[in-house]
Amino acid sequence: MSLALGVLISGRGSNLVAILDAIDRGSLDATLKVVASNKPNAAGLERAKERGLPTVYLDPKPFAQKPKPREAYDLAMGALLQQHGVEYVALAGYMRIVTPVLIQMYPSKIFNIHPSLLPAFPGLDAQRQALEWGAKVSGCTVHLVTEGVDEGPIIVQASVPILEGDTVESLSARILEKEHECYPQALQFMAQKRMYLEGRKVHILS
Ligand code: GAR
Repeated sequence: MSLALGVLISGRGSNLVAILDAIDRGSLDATLKVVASNKPNAAGLERAKERGLPTVYLDPKPFAQKPKPREAYDLAMGALLQQHGVEYVALAGYMRIVTPVLIQMYPSKIFNIHPSLLPAFPGLDAQRQALEWGAKVSGCTVHLVTEGVDEGPIIVQASVPILEGDTVESLSARILEKEHECYPQALQFMAQKRMYLEGRKVHILS
């Protein structure tokens, strides 16, 4: 099966590029339907445009007046994704908490990548959290998105050592290399229908 994929970003978009490269190489069986962002100047939008892909900026401001701004925004985002024929959603550096509104439109079909070995160091600044905790190992996690932030079923993880003298930047760079391998791999498990859920466990068929 080819995944009809939408990618949501807020910034640089290096994971988006890793996904696109994997598609081009033939190691990820997916079609990128749209790249959407909550930030107008997200560099990843330019990367997508350079490759001739549809991009959308969905401005959160008009939704701020509504009774439930985050839910209203997600309803609009979900409609936009559906209009583009998106069946699976990859959050790639998308710095908004996704509400149940969007999760219910795409149940067990939204992926996220997080720069730590969850459940350690959820939320913002995961690399800084790991350094400040004094952890000796960190890494990245690709998981399905559920209502709890960074709590969903884990699909793929990879670890990296934390070295003496590491800074947020050096650790982030080491983790990012792993992110670029893990994200396409996790999506490919879905494309190949090799993963299934049992409770909160993701089983991967060999
Ligand atoms: C990545 O390190 C990703 O794991 C992180 O943001 C970065 C985005 O980089 N995501 C989170 O922290 C989500 N909680 P990118 O825009 O170059 O893909």
